[in-house]
Amino acid sequence: MVIEASSLIPGAVRLDDVLQELLRLLQTTSAHLSGEQLGARLGLSRTAVWKRIERLRALGYQVEGSSRRGYRLAPGQDLLLPADLSAALPLRWLQAPVYHFVSLPSTNDAAKELARQGAPEGTLVLSETQSAGRGRLGRTWESPPGTGIYLTLLLRPPLPPAELPKLTLLAAVAVVEAIQAATGLITGIKWPNDIIFQGKKLGGILTEMETESDAMRHVVLGVGLNLNTPEFPDHLREIATSLASTGQTYSRLATVRAFLAAMAGLYGRFLNQEFPAILDQWRQLTVTLGKTVTIRRGNDVYSGLALDVAPDGALLLARADGTIEKILSGEIQQASYS
Ligand code: BTN
Repeated sequence: MVIEASSLIPGAVRLDDVLQELLRLLQTTSAHLSGEQLGARLGLSRTAVWKRIERLRALGYQVEGSSRRGYRLAPGQDLLLPADLSAALPLRWLQAPVYHFVSLPSTNDAAKELARQGAPEGTLVLSETQSAGRGRLGRTWESPPGTGIYLTLLLRPPLPPAELPKLTLLAAVAVVEAIQAATGLITGIKWPNDIIFQGKKLGGILTEMETESDAMRHVVLGVGLNLNTPEFPDHLREIATSLASTGQTYSRLATVRAFLAAMAGLYGRFLNQEFPAILDQWRQLTVTLGKTVTIRRGNDVYSGLALDVAPDGALLLARADGTIEKILSGEIQQASYS
């Protein structure tokens, strides 16, 4: 189910039904389709088709050709079309709405707004680019179009707020599993939930919630992945990476589908009291345990050996004076994440 939402979300741009259908038609073949052929399928004149093609180009889609030669999608574009996303939903969230945007300030903010308006669990918000993507600790999340994945999943777990860190760790496991399933590549988790590839940051997770008395009203679980991002601004070049560093590019749709499948499975197990086993998976996938790390939490800085994670997801740090510090949230300070 794809839902009209641009009126609900300030600053949102989405494809209308005709543009979606036009893209879908273009996607079905690598040959040129004439304006007449497209017009016949869409019930539009050739001029109206041309105007729609221009609109797609203005939105960033690369369409080659002209009304005389016909049109085709420039090869190598990794499209994420709303209908494909709907078809990628796992059984658990099959009935949930999908909101696909060409552009949005932040998928987390949009998902919060939709949650306040009663959107159901499993609602998926995805945008090709974000103008105000947010990272942890108030940072900006660079969200260039066409190459990265920026999505938010809305959850409504019937649990107390203290369970939130568990959900974030679980999501990191889902992302690593999804990347392996979709690309065959092995990534790791830097506590609590940075996704690391070859020592640099490939992605991150931003989980936010609203509470009501002592329960979560809703959780928005945002995932940002620099899947095929070809280059990074100067300030990120040393610490960020993408899978394009392998010399290949990978399907965003396959990765989103694999993430949703992994997430649905892990979330079901989590609700079924199986978090200890999920935490064991996290331990297998982390690059943090066994390393000497420095962690910043607000103005406090802690250094020590990362021993383990506690059952609630807190990091257990052995300090030089022999004490063990339990750290529920914070950020590991390292130039390299290996
Ligand atoms: C981090 O700092 O590591 C977390 C980054 C999370 C970024 C994602 S992109 C999709 C979602 N929408 C946002 O504004 N942020 C998250």
